[in-house]
Amino acid sequence: MYYIGIDLGTSAVKLLLMEADGTIANVVSKEYPLYFPNPGWSEQNPEDWYSQTIAGMKELLTGFDAGRVAGISFGGQMHGLVILDSEDRVIRPAILWNDGRTSEENDYLNQAIGKETLSAYTANISFTGFTAPKLLWVKKNEPENFKRIAKIMLPKDYLAYKMTGVHCTDVSDASGMLLFDVKNRCWSKEMCEICGVKEEQLAAIFESYETVGVVRPEAAEELGLSDHVKVAAGAGDNAAAAVGTGTVGEGMCNISLGTSGTIFISSEKFGVDKNNALHAFAHADGHYHLMGCMLSAASCNKWWMEDIIGTKDYAKEQETITKLGENHVYFLPYLMGERSPHNDPDARGAFIGMTMDTTRADMTQAVLEGVAFALRDSFEVARSLGISIERTKICGGGAKSPLWKKIIANVMNVKVDVIESEEGPGYGGAMLAAVACGEYATVEEAAKKLVKVVDTVEPEPELAAKYEARYRQFQQIYPAVKKLFPNIK
Ligand code: XUL
Repeated sequence: MYYIGIDLGTSAVKLLLMEADGTIANVVSKEYPLYFPNPGWSEQNPEDWYSQTIAGMKELLTGFDAGRVAGISFGGQMHGLVILDSEDRVIRPAILWNDGRTSEENDYLNQAIGKETLSAYTANISFTGFTAPKLLWVKKNEPENFKRIAKIMLPKDYLAYKMTGVHCTDVSDASGMLLFDVKNRCWSKEMCEICGVKEEQLAAIFESYETVGVVRPEAAEELGLSDHVKVAAGAGDNAAAAVGTGTVGEGMCNISLGTSGTIFISSEKFGVDKNNALHAFAHADGHYHLMGCMLSAASCNKWWMEDIIGTKDYAKEQETITKLGENHVYFLPYLMGERSPHNDPDARGAFIGMTMDTTRADMTQAVLEGVAFALRDSFEVARSLGISIERTKICGGGAKSPLWKKIIANVMNVKVDVIESEEGPGYGGAMLAAVACGEYATVEEAAKKLVKVVDTVEPEPELAAKYEARYRQFQQIYPAVKKLFPNIK
């Protein structure tokens, strides 16, 4: 049997066709536009997601027996607000996870309602990209749209709805809405009241590996699928990526170097970071996780390579980097503001430390290092909670670069395990579909049987020591310039 994993990303939807034994039979990627209607705003059209997903599925299945597809599931960009009217039409473009327009609403939630109260209700505080502050923003700025809301959805759940007709979500993605009681895995009545929404406006909650329905006959016919293909709820992209890299059960770590950059720590027990700098979310394996999320990771490198220096040949550009651990140029990667751990939508990108002998290679290196240093900031929060991390998995587009993996291993001073495929969320999505169809009894069993570590990047003591000193310098830059950002408009 085949299982399809759909990774609904920010730049593209990536679809993956997996055999029951975990072999990847095909992978297809389809892009769609991302709109920045104002500085710090970020939107996409849900209809684009669906049409590109269907186009991608057709391509994915070309040359394969579509009748052998048993299940479909997802990893999806998290937190995006998708609102539907009473006829299930999209009311306005989706407001995405990296949108920073909700400063006021975020402050209202964290200050007027209070971080302690939010944390008691949801296990988390508010961040501008979370879904609840976006609802408050729509309520205030687009009251006509707010009144029309019949259903509040998350990005991948819109795809599941279009495929099955069921308004559903899963526990991991729901965790990022700030409307969800993470510990008890149910909607928070209190948060619904605070945000002025009724529980019936929210979707039905499933565990990530549970079946929500079957593909509707029209869609099945269009794609050449059988009439009983199961659709499993799936997970937020980070939880799906964690499944795809075998980061399940107790105390495992995964780094995702995608548009965003995340550090994901799985846990069998529910636990909250007392300062709420890390998110405390439900995991797709039926348990929980802690996560730090930086808003611009591989996207900083893409911006630097393609928009600024004008090349698509990342590997060639990285070949010119020779002085690891000795760069005097630093880069703050806050191109969309920053989430973990600063929670500062006003933060911006910056290069600092250039001299007349600074080269293009130094700047490219600074971008890769800046992302690694900013990820280490979240690592430090985890370490301050007594969590010891000695090794991590890695996935996402940035994980294709051997140089970047080496920088990460040495900046964090951890062993970096490389998985056979870096298709984290897509592979995880396919695995969740396989569990829903009974191919594997649990997510942990699927991970044990399917995920293969093919290489480990070890930190080198001398280089790690150099990076330790560089990281201490990096840590001083943001606090020194932080106060300038709100005035740089
Ligand atoms: C996680 C987050 C991002 C998006 C990216 O909290 O906001 O990782 O899920 O797709």
